[in-house]
Amino acid sequence: MRQAAMPAKTVSYDFTGRTLFLTGAGGGIPAAIAKLFAASGANLFLTDLHPDSLAVLAGELGDNTSLAIHPLDVSDPEAVTAAAEACRDRFEKIDYVVTGAGLYEDGTVDGMADEVWRRGIAVNLDGVFHTVRAGLPHMPDGGAVVNIASMAGHRGSFGHAPYSAAKGAVLALTRSLAQEVASRNIRCNAISPGLIDTPMVRGLMQERGGEMLNMTPLGRLGTPKEVAEVAAFLCSDGAAFLTAETIHVNGGVYIAS
Ligand SMILES: NC(=O)c1ccc[n+]([C@@H]2O[C@H](COP(=O)([O-])OP(=O)(O)OC[C@H]3O[C@@H](n4cnc5c(N)ncnc54)[C@H](O)[C@@H]3O)[C@@H](O)[C@H]2O)c1
Repeated sequence: MRQAAMPAKTVSYDFTGRTLFLTGAGGGIPAAIAKLFAASGANLFLTDLHPDSLAVLAGELGDNTSLAIHPLDVSDPEAVTAAAEACRDRFEKIDYVVTGAGLYEDGTVDGMADEVWRRGIAVNLDGVFHTVRAGLPHMPDGGAVVNIASMAGHRGSFGHAPYSAAKGAVLALTRSLAQEVASRNIRCNAISPGLIDTPMVRGLMQERGGEMLNMTPLGRLGTPKEVAEVAAFLCSDGAAFLTAETIHVNGGVYIAS
C-alpha cells in the first residue's frame, strides 16, 4: 500500500455558541466529527443506537466539552422528534444537523428477505428523513444540514443494494431539502465518502482490500478525520454560498479507470 502524505495542518473553525445534532455519533466518522466540532467550541448533542459507544465518546471528549448523550434509533420517527426537542431544550437551538448513522449489511438482491431490504432503507434513508424533519423547526438562520451519503449512492455497490439505493436517495433528498430551506438561509449538502478506515468497511477490506487500494489514486484509505474536516467546512461560514451539493471524499477512486 502506497504511503501518501498526510495533511500537516488542521483547519480550525469557530463554532462557539453553535449546537451540533449528530446521529450515529459512536461510529468512526461521526465520532471524528464530534471531536472536531468539540475542538471548535460547539455544543454537542450526540445520539447513537448503541449507548455504550456514546459513553466511550463522551469519556474521550472529557469534561471541558458541552455535551449531551442520547440513545436513539433513527428509524423510529417519534424517538427522533423527541431527541430533537431534547436538544432544543438543552441548548435552545440546533445550528447543525449531521446525519452519520448508517447500516451496511451484506446480501445480494436475489433471494433477499424483505426485512433486510426494509432495515437498510429504514436506517439509511428513513433515518435521514426523520432526522432532518425533526431538526428543522429548531434551526435558526445560518443553520446547515450535512448528510453523510456514500460513493455507493452514485455507483451502486455489489452485495449492498439497500444501502446504495438509500444513499442515492439521500443525495436527491439533500438537493430537494436545500431548495425548500434556502429561504430560511439554511444550507443542505451531502458528503459521499469512498473507503474510510472505520469498522464499517473492515469486512470489505479483508475481502477486496488490495484490489480497492490499487484502484485508488491516492493509494490509501481515508481517515474519519478527513471526512470530519469536510463536514466542518460545510457547516462553516466559508461555505455560506454552498448548498444542494455533494462533496466526494475518496482519494480519487470515483473517477479512476
Ligand atoms: N467507512 C466508510 O468507508 C464509509 C463510506 C461511505 C459512507 N459511509 C457512511 O458514513 C457514516 C458513518 O459510518 P462509519 O464508517 O463511521 O461506520 P460505523 O459503523 O463506525 O458508524 C455507524 C454508526 O451508526 C450507528 N447506527 C446504526 N444503526 C443505527 C440506528 N438505527 N440508529 C442510530 N444509529 C445507528 C452505529 O451504531 C454506528 O455507531 C454512515 O452513514 C456510513 O454509511 C462510510
